[in-house]
Amino acid sequence: MSTERVTRLLPATPAGLQAAARCLANGGLAAFPTETVYGLGADATNPEAVARLYAAKNRPQFNPLIAHVGDAAAARELVCLDAVAERLGTAFWPGPLTLVAPQTGNCGVCEIAAAGLNTLAVRVPDHPITRELLKALAKPIVAPSANRSGHLSPTTASHVLADLGGRIDLIIDGGATPVGIESTIVACEGDTAILLRPGGIARAEIERVLQAKLLDPLGPRCDYTLPPSAPGRLASHYAPRARLRLNARQVNPGEALLAFGATSPPDLEAAIAWLNLSATGDLVVAAANLYAHLRVLDQSGATTIAVMPVPTEGLGETINDRLSRAAAPRRPAQVA
Ligand code: TXA
Ligand code: MG
Repeated sequence: MSTERVTRLLPATPAGLQAAARCLANGGLAAFPTETVYGLGADATNPEAVARLYAAKNRPQFNPLIAHVGDAAAARELVCLDAVAERLGTAFWPGPLTLVAPQTGNCGVCEIAAAGLNTLAVRVPDHPITRELLKALAKPIVAPSANRSGHLSPTTASHVLADLGGRIDLIIDGGATPVGIESTIVACEGDTAILLRPGGIARAEIERVLQAKLLDPLGPRCDYTLPPSAPGRLASHYAPRARLRLNARQVNPGEALLAFGATSPPDLEAAIAWLNLSATGDLVVAAANLYAHLRVLDQSGATTIAVMPVPTEGLGETINDRLSRAAAPRRPAQVA
């Protein structure tokens, strides 16, 4: 399938949003900001559009997509939300939480969007532009992160243009995305909730609502069957060009440095470039900066980016998850 096309970069004006909604309605591919990262949208009910989306991203078709909808009522048309899922939806929607649940009988989302599974990932985004588009299209929109498979997720329109320019129809420029890291994905099965991907909502916040621990899909008390693509369970992902060296406490000559917190390593001058995720040690700020900072340091030409330790509490779990995947040995066919 040819992926070549002219990509228009449009402002987030009413005319821009109308053009994006028209593009989606006609089976096109439009990228737009959500509160987490930029998504590459297609009409979830149009199998040809969704096939083009997989092709534009170079994404293996066994890796299912998230369907975005305007509210919980629209989510219930797509998936069966049991008590646990309802509780999470009430607490966190609209927002950066994706729920995986069994599809309803008349879901309408095309089979390739769910990669043939009988479950579907659903999310109610909390960004005025995404919400406006969903209202205008009046159909679910599938939207993976708007990057080529395996690359860093985009948090600005220019990141999308750099990665997917010439492969998609248009990009709505709505500025930098506030959360900066993808949604948390939770699979709901009966009365259990399984954390498939840490994300923009911290584990502890979800466990507070559930008043129970989230299960680990690979853990001992969980018999959840992971799809072959299970979010990032395949190691290399979210990867810059440079290698990452994690938990660095010093800088080697020629390295770039991704710092965290108030104390920089003593040999900072050795770094050919450096940025701090948050000088005050704020993990929410660090999450918002992670991908953009990695991109800048990647462009410095360093072959290695040294990354200082980031604590694991709160959004630190998500940041460390992404860093360890970005550091993992690369695979030839990566899964975004
Ligand atoms: O914040 C986000 O979630 C962004 C924005 C654009 O909404 N989207 C995003 O989509 O990160 P994507 O496609 O890059 O990541 C979705 C993940 C994939 O790893 C996929 O394997 C997983 O969700 N997924 C989708 N459907 C699933 C299902 N039925 N069961 C298990 N995992 C599923
Ligand atoms: Mg992705």
